[in-house]
Amino acid sequence: MGGVKRVVAEVWGGLSPIARFSILLASVLGVAAIARTAVIAYFMDAVARDGATMDTLARIQLSVTVLIFGAALLLWLVLRAAYLSSSRRLREQSTALEAALAERDRTYDATLGALTNALEVRDSETGGHGGRVVSYMELILREMEIDGDERKTYRRAALLHDIGKIGVPDNILRKPTALSEAEWAAMKRHPEFGSRIIADIPFLGEVARIVRHHHERWDGMGYPNGLAGTAIPLGARIFAVADSFDAMTSDRPYRHGMSIDQARREIDRCSGTQFDPSVVTTFLRIKLEELELISESAPHTHPRVVAS
Ligand SMILES: [Fe+2]
Repeated sequence: MGGVKRVVAEVWGGLSPIARFSILLASVLGVAAIARTAVIAYFMDAVARDGATMDTLARIQLSVTVLIFGAALLLWLVLRAAYLSSSRRLREQSTALEAALAERDRTYDATLGALTNALEVRDSETGGHGGRVVSYMELILREMEIDGDERKTYRRAALLHDIGKIGVPDNILRKPTALSEAEWAAMKRHPEFGSRIIADIPFLGEVARIVRHHHERWDGMGYPNGLAGTAIPLGARIFAVADSFDAMTSDRPYRHGMSIDQARREIDRCSGTQFDPSVVTTFLRIKLEELELISESAPHTHPRVVAS
C-alpha cells in the first residue's frame, strides 16, 4: 500500500501545475455529475412512489443543477487563485535562481581571471595578452553571431589558454633569445599542461579541449595532436586568429610588433594554412578602429595603424 502511495505521490509531483489543476477540476466535475444523476434517480423513484408531478421533478432538477454549477464555479475560482499564486511564486524563484547563477558565473570568471593574472605576472613579456585576446575573440564571436553558453566557453578558453605555461621552467619562458630545440619541445607542452590543470573542473570540460588544441593549425601542422580542418574545435580555430593577431601587433624583446594593417594582411595570407578560412573572412570584416582600440594597450613602440 505504501508503495502505491509513493508511486502516486511521485507521479503527482512530476505533473505541471496546469495538469494538476485540470485533473482536480475534472475529478470534481465527474463527482458532481455522478451526484446529480443519483439525486435525479432518487427523486424519480420518489415521484413513482408518491405520485408527485413532473413539474416538481423539473424544479428539483434545476435546483440541483444550479447548486452543482455554483459549486464547480467556486472550486474553479479557488483553484485558479491557487494556480496564479503558485505561478507567481515560481516566477519569483526562477528570477532569484537566475540572479544566483549570474553571480556564480561572475565568481567563476573572477577566479579564472586571478589564475591568468598570476601567469601574466610571471610571464611579464606578454603584458595584458590574455585580456586583449578575449577582446579580439569577442569581436569575432559577435560577427559569427555566437552567443550564450558557447560564447561563455570560448571566452573562458581565451582567458586560460596559456595557463599551462605555469609548467614551463622560468629559464625557458623568460628567455629573451631564440629557444633551442629541447627548450622549444618543453615550451610546446604547455597546451597539454593547461588542459590537464583544468580537466577535472566540471564546468571547464570544453574549455580544457580548446586549451589543449589552441596551437593546432588548419593544415594539420600544429601541435600537440596535429589535428586539421574542422577536427580542431571551433573555439580553438577562432582563438588562433585572435591570439596570433595580438602576438603580431605586440612588441617582443626580439622584434617590434607589426602595424594593424600588416597583421591583417598576414592573417589573410595564412588563411587555409594556419587559420580556418571562414574565421579569417569573418575577422577581416571587423572595423579597423575596433581592432585599434584593443591593440592600444599592447606593448609597442610604433603607431598601430599606418597612415593612409
Ligand atoms: Fe599558447
